[in-house]
Amino acid sequence: MIILGIESSCDETAAALVDSDGRVIADVVRSQVEIHAAYGGVVPELASRAHLAAIGVVIEQALASIEGGIDSVDAIAVTAGPGLAGALLVGIGAAKALAWSARKRIVGVSHLDAHLLAVQLRRDADAEPVPYPFIGLLVSGGHTALYRVDAPTDITLLGQTRDDAAGEAFDKAAKLLGLGYPGGPLVDRLAAHGRPDAVVFPTPMRGRDELEFSFAGLKTSLARHVEKSGLPQDDSALADVCASYQRVLVSALVDKSLAACAEEGVPRLALTGGVAANRGLRALAARRCAEAGLALHVPPFASCTDNAAMVAYAGAMKLLSPGYVDGPVVTFTRDARRRRGRFAPDGRLVSTQRLP
Ligand code: KG4
Ligand code: ZN
Repeated sequence: MIILGIESSCDETAAALVDSDGRVIADVVRSQVEIHAAYGGVVPELASRAHLAAIGVVIEQALASIEGGIDSVDAIAVTAGPGLAGALLVGIGAAKALAWSARKRIVGVSHLDAHLLAVQLRRDADAEPVPYPFIGLLVSGGHTALYRVDAPTDITLLGQTRDDAAGEAFDKAAKLLGLGYPGGPLVDRLAAHGRPDAVVFPTPMRGRDELEFSFAGLKTSLARHVEKSGLPQDDSALADVCASYQRVLVSALVDKSLAACAEEGVPRLALTGGVAANRGLRALAARRCAEAGLALHVPPFASCTDNAAMVAYAGAMKLLSPGYVDGPVVTFTRDARRRRGRFAPDGRLVSTQRLP
């Protein structure tokens, strides 16, 4: 089964071809980062317009990678939510038009499920599938949450951030320090040369049992530090602030991820989302997982950031799941205040109960 995936939930316009074993045949991503950089964050209206300009191009490029083009595709999967409404509608509109004209099945996919299942993509021949169940830490510019993944269509939210997402916390820190956008990679690069114990920032949610995160206080303490001590005056002082901030942030992510593995009795952790590219996070997770006897899976960068291959794979899994019935593709959102729960693949909350 070959699936065409389409993604337009935020600031990447993407199309990909993937088979139901997760093999990636084509993976085209157009980033809008240059458009939004001038504003220091994603501007929804500009995102929708840029998606409109790019959506046809990325789909054509993906289809050009396979003999027969759309005729060789069995179904179309498109991100239906969560995301910017106007941005989502561009991908959904394109997917519906193509599905109707080429007489293909169409399936709407949760962007969050797709990020979690991205660990199963096979970008090279020796990529091994991740066994189920696994605990997934999803860390991106818009989301920070822990999930238990028992099967591709059996995913339970264990806890999420109470305020900012981890990527947002990186981006806001970079803005405060006068660095560029997106800030995560810049802070990461500078942190590599700094002393992580140079500045003391409070660890978010330390000593709390909940599998939740909170990064607003950390951002405020950085703002206070800058107010009090001024902006770092040289590269080494800047690197020290970045290293100290990053250490506290990634420690919170790793502490709660290991707590989730212990609480759920699951010996396997997967990192995904754009922030999973962070070297500090990867290094700390590797060390702490090794100490705890847990397997750690970190997909390649192209699978961590927004892409359509993960959407195609998640779509294939939905179509192949027993009892799946085709239905209309509509946008959906998830309640950000919801702390725990199981969701149907269309984003509906099924139950707030934990798994037995
Ligand atoms: O998953 P993603 O590409 O887009 C969504 O938000 O869905 O994630 C983007 C986020 C941005 O906040 C960016 O600053 C952050 O991921 N990021 C990083 C790194 N690379 C990207 N954060 C920390 N360290 C990095 N190396
Ligand atoms: Zn994303």
